[in-house]
Amino acid sequence: MDKILVTGGAGFIGAELSRGIASGNPKNEVIILDNLSASNRGKSFNLTNLPHNVETVRADLVSDQHTLERAVQECSMVFHLAANVSVEVGSFDTSVDLRNNLIATYNLLEAMRKSDNCKRIVFTSSSTVYGEPSIIPTPESYGPLQPISMYGSSKLACESFVSGYCGSFSLSSIILRLANVIGPQSSHGVIYDFMQRLQYSPQELTVRGNGKQQKSYLYIDDCIEALKTAGQVLERKEPGATEVYNVGSTDWIRVTDIAAIVTRSLGLQDTKLLFTEGQEGRGWAGDVREMLLDCKKFAADGWRPGLNSHEAVIETVSKLCQISA
Ligand SMILES: NC(=O)c1ccc[n+]([C@@H]2O[C@H](COP(=O)([O-])OP(=O)(O)OC[C@H]3O[C@@H](n4cnc5c(N)ncnc54)[C@H](O)[C@@H]3O)[C@@H](O)[C@H]2O)c1
Repeated sequence: MDKILVTGGAGFIGAELSRGIASGNPKNEVIILDNLSASNRGKSFNLTNLPHNVETVRADLVSDQHTLERAVQECSMVFHLAANVSVEVGSFDTSVDLRNNLIATYNLLEAMRKSDNCKRIVFTSSSTVYGEPSIIPTPESYGPLQPISMYGSSKLACESFVSGYCGSFSLSSIILRLANVIGPQSSHGVIYDFMQRLQYSPQELTVRGNGKQQKSYLYIDDCIEALKTAGQVLERKEPGATEVYNVGSTDWIRVTDIAAIVTRSLGLQDTKLLFTEGQEGRGWAGDVREMLLDCKKFAADGWRPGLNSHEAVIETVSKLCQISA
């Protein structure tokens, strides 16, 4: 029987992953470790209807080292998702990504170093580690990596720590550089933002930046499949190994096209788009304007997305419309 630790398991992706692992095999046991900081922003529904073989432990990766070490000791593998996920927050509080991303990851790796069994980790990194790359679609081999946000730089630092612990202490790891992940359960990101704004003001929609940003969006189900595939690939890795994979869809979509899909789905015809413009058209400090990942490497190892960005946006919006109807 395998026990698997999912840090950040109360979040958007973590809750779906925990459900997926637990319901995929009743012999699997999942421990969710989460400080519920995101749930305080109204996301506690993520934890409802969890299968019986999922246990939830409320703990902070930075301040509850003892609880963390106990959970790690019980498990054979970790999916490490706990993090601050807001790029914007780092532009006005530079300590958030240091604390919840880098120090949290360091504490987890230390707990793994000290444990007898738990030596495998899947880490959810981000496309933001590439900054604004000159090669698009961007392959994993692209460099130098020059993030333009504190979030991106903390993720890159975490990747580096994960790799260092693998090399020095015989851990093995898969690092997934995720594109934007979307789905009806998400409570952050552009679609969520548009739906919220239009609820209160259907006549006009403020688009952050110049609306020309184009990025790749990955549907939540495809993201969960990617995480599960990463877990399987990791089982075949030797101690000390680190593998990095991009995880995104095969196309990108403009912010204004997302706005059009959302307004059309809500039956709005005359919504006026207002643009904040921002520095060089960015939505916020650290916003990467163009992002499309080359995912051929992960495809060769068994993972492909089922939906492209357009389909992922349409699926998310249509499910949200059904929920709110
Ligand atoms: N959603 C995306 O578009 C996206 C894109 C790229 C990468 N990622 C990465 O995937 C992971 C999951 O993202 P998500 O969208 O589910 O985010 P989320 O905010 O929904 O979930 C993150 C969870 O981590 C928990 N957490 C934060 N700090 C913690 C700490 N110090 N100790 C314990 N728990 C803590 C939060 O309470 C939350 O439940 C993150 O690492 C994120 O950086 C997400």
